[in-house]
Amino acid sequence: MQQKVTVVGAGNVGATVAQRIVEKQLADVVLVDILQGVPQGKALDIMESAPVERFDARMIGSNSYEATGGSDLVVITAGIPRKPGMSRDDLVATNEGIVTDVVRKVLPGSPDAILIVVSNPLDAMCEVARRVSKLPRERVFGMAGVLDSARMRWFLADALQVSVENTHAFVLGGHGDTMVPLPRYSTVAGIPVTELLPKEKLDAIVKRTRDGGAEIVNYLKTSAWYAPASAVVEMVDAVLRDKKKILPCAVYLQGEYGMRDVYLGVPVKLGKGGAEQIIEIPLREDEKAALEKSANAVRELFKILKT
Ligand SMILES: NC(=O)c1ccc[n+]([C@@H]2O[C@H](COP(=O)([O-])OP(=O)(O)OC[C@H]3O[C@@H](n4cnc5c(N)ncnc54)[C@H](O)[C@@H]3O)[C@@H](O)[C@H]2O)c1
Repeated sequence: MQQKVTVVGAGNVGATVAQRIVEKQLADVVLVDILQGVPQGKALDIMESAPVERFDARMIGSNSYEATGGSDLVVITAGIPRKPGMSRDDLVATNEGIVTDVVRKVLPGSPDAILIVVSNPLDAMCEVARRVSKLPRERVFGMAGVLDSARMRWFLADALQVSVENTHAFVLGGHGDTMVPLPRYSTVAGIPVTELLPKEKLDAIVKRTRDGGAEIVNYLKTSAWYAPASAVVEMVDAVLRDKKKILPCAVYLQGEYGMRDVYLGVPVKLGKGGAEQIIEIPLREDEKAALEKSANAVRELFKILKT
């Protein structure tokens, strides 16, 4: 039986997520947005590409949640994106209201769904979704680390002129200026990148990864969507196909990495149960300190939540 995914927010990220899910035939998709005609029009346009792209998965667009019932997974991309000069944190007030509204409306029809949060500021919006839904942490997690790692992988592949497929990168922490890219756990064909690139080059790649979101915002005057959508779809695929794939996700820590009651990006095993297991890796003191700093930045955002 074809699985069902609801994507809320038919903007740049949401529509691209929806498009990639049906093109890969991972699930049927219901695309929801408050803008009249937009999810319907985008869904129809994408379905009209199906004969050429050759996929049989179906997508419909809607301004209501009726058609979303029985979804296996819900991707929440509703919200306003970052504008130039705006930090992710500035988004809190507006997007908290939007994410609350979405969770309240989508959950009654899909009580067994897994929620993947994309709206920024990511770690805080995950917490809003968790508080409003009251779901266990396995079923409410966020996309950030896959995107941050993909960016770092591209920078490594480009610097070393190797296939992106050979690269593996590790980025922990919150989805913000305090994220923690870990070069010593990042590899090319199994070789730690610390063996392959001089420190200055690696430092520059770490910095560019950390500023990766802002680099795109400066060009486009809005936030990225192609790579973010790819990252979401990798997580959707891992869950729907029960792959047990270890990916960095924003997950609610309960003692892991010495931290509690905070969403933070760490390696997580994704399968049909959602965030099935948190993988703990040994960290050096400086790495632990960087992760702690990142967690504190997330906790500061939690303090201003009204939920
Ligand atoms: N986690 C990440 O790594 C990551 C990456 C990129 C973007 N984002 C975030 O994802 C969100 C979406 O980005 P985008 O570029 O697609 O923005 P966008 O403006 O293109 O799309 C957002 C859509 O949400 C809709 N929306 C607003 N309120 C809604 C509601 N109550 N119910 C349903 N839909 C509603 C809007 O009408 C709009 O179509 C932003 O918050 C952005 O910061 C996160």
